[in-house]
Amino acid sequence: MMRNIIIFGASGNIGQQALQIIESNPNDFQLTAVSIYHNVAVLHKILQKHQTITIIHLGDETHQAALATQYPNITFVTGEAGIDAMLAVDPTAMVLNAIGGFAGLYPTLQTLAGKNRTLLLANKESLVVAGGLINSLLTKNNNQLYPIDSEHCAIFQCLEQNNRCQELILTASGGMFADKTLAELKTIDEHQVLQHPTWTMGQNITIDSSTMVNKGLEIIEAYHLFKTTNITVVLHPQSVLHSAVQYEDYSILAQLSKPSMLQVLNYFLYYPVRKYNALLPPLEFSELMTLTFQKADLSRWKALQLAYRCLNENNSLAVTFNAANEELRGLFLAGKIKFYQIVDYIEYFMNQIKLQKLVNYLQIKKLNDIIKRDIINYFSKK
Ligand SMILES: NC(=O)c1ccc[n+]([C@@H]2O[C@H](COP(=O)([O-])OP(=O)(O)OC[C@H]3O[C@@H](n4cnc5c(N)ncnc54)[C@H](OP(=O)(O)O)[C@@H]3O)[C@@H](O)[C@H]2O)c1
Repeated sequence: MMRNIIIFGASGNIGQQALQIIESNPNDFQLTAVSIYHNVAVLHKILQKHQTITIIHLGDETHQAALATQYPNITFVTGEAGIDAMLAVDPTAMVLNAIGGFAGLYPTLQTLAGKNRTLLLANKESLVVAGGLINSLLTKNNNQLYPIDSEHCAIFQCLEQNNRCQELILTASGGMFADKTLAELKTIDEHQVLQHPTWTMGQNITIDSSTMVNKGLEIIEAYHLFKTTNITVVLHPQSVLHSAVQYEDYSILAQLSKPSMLQVLNYFLYYPVRKYNALLPPLEFSELMTLTFQKADLSRWKALQLAYRCLNENNSLAVTFNAANEELRGLFLAGKIKFYQIVDYIEYFMNQIKLQKLVNYLQIKKLNDIIKRDIINYFSKK
């Protein structure tokens, strides 16, 4: 059966990989709307291949008039009203949200404000800052949410409906500096932060993997998705075992595959059917290297400690964790702070925050903006 699909963040790493799966199955999916932020070059390429698109969301109005002239049959929109218009055009389409960062929250909430929607959510920040709100919208509006994150996809596959899970085991590669001590981190070559040993991803998530903030975000994401605080992080540098679930009888079920987001996207695009695709990399046991595991030391990985502090219904702390990371990562990229200072300053700004439950988009956005503004002010005075 042909399914319509809307992609937020179509120009990014996840958006492009989703398009590879969709384009390799033209009889199964039809793209009806996309958003990009600024990457107009990629948008032209998408439009050459997908004549079914009727509406496009842009980051701002810079190219809107020129694009509208070039593609007269397509509506070009911007802003929050534009996101609403995109969703209204196709109220039964499956939605993939692959926007990076806090900006993904509004499309997530507006998708889930509709009824009987299926949302493939790569934008983990949405769950981090608004997990409680998202869960209530899922129940209220009979929506489905599937996590486009390899660890959570693995856990989803390992969960048994009628057995209570004892513990979720999230694996982490540890990023570029897993073998460095905290003291050694102060002397690393900071260019290496932009590489990842096992995954090819967008720049921001690659940095977040090295600080382990990404794993912290994933702990909070898992808490909201699977509703447990029993979450352990295990270092597994080969990124082949994507996560596991332990049951009361101490059996552990795990999911293994080559590190590939194509696999995760393919799994949820076709869920509950497992579908062959020649793009998916096979994992041969005969080729398997040694797989190693080591429980993450929380004194070494402060970002994990900070994330565990966020596992409660008072999401002000999680909003701060995410907002501070986004702002401080930007300051690191601009050469204003050192790599090791990202997490130290996240902790500093989290310690200023009053525990509070933020229950709607405006409250969450207000705190997000305040934290980011405070950080800008703090560093402008230094
Ligand atoms: N990459 C992975 O392997 C991976 C794995 C698991 C989860 N995720 C999650 O998936 C999400 C996307 O990651 P990614 O690696 O694909 O990131 P990415 O390559 O940086 O792409 C981000 C996408 O979001 C758009 N965007 C950025 N800022 C925006 C804003 N303020 N408003 C609207 N759109 C904006 C970008 O548009 P332009 O390109 O046009 O500027 C791009 O389409 C993140 O939440 C990440 O944590 C990624």
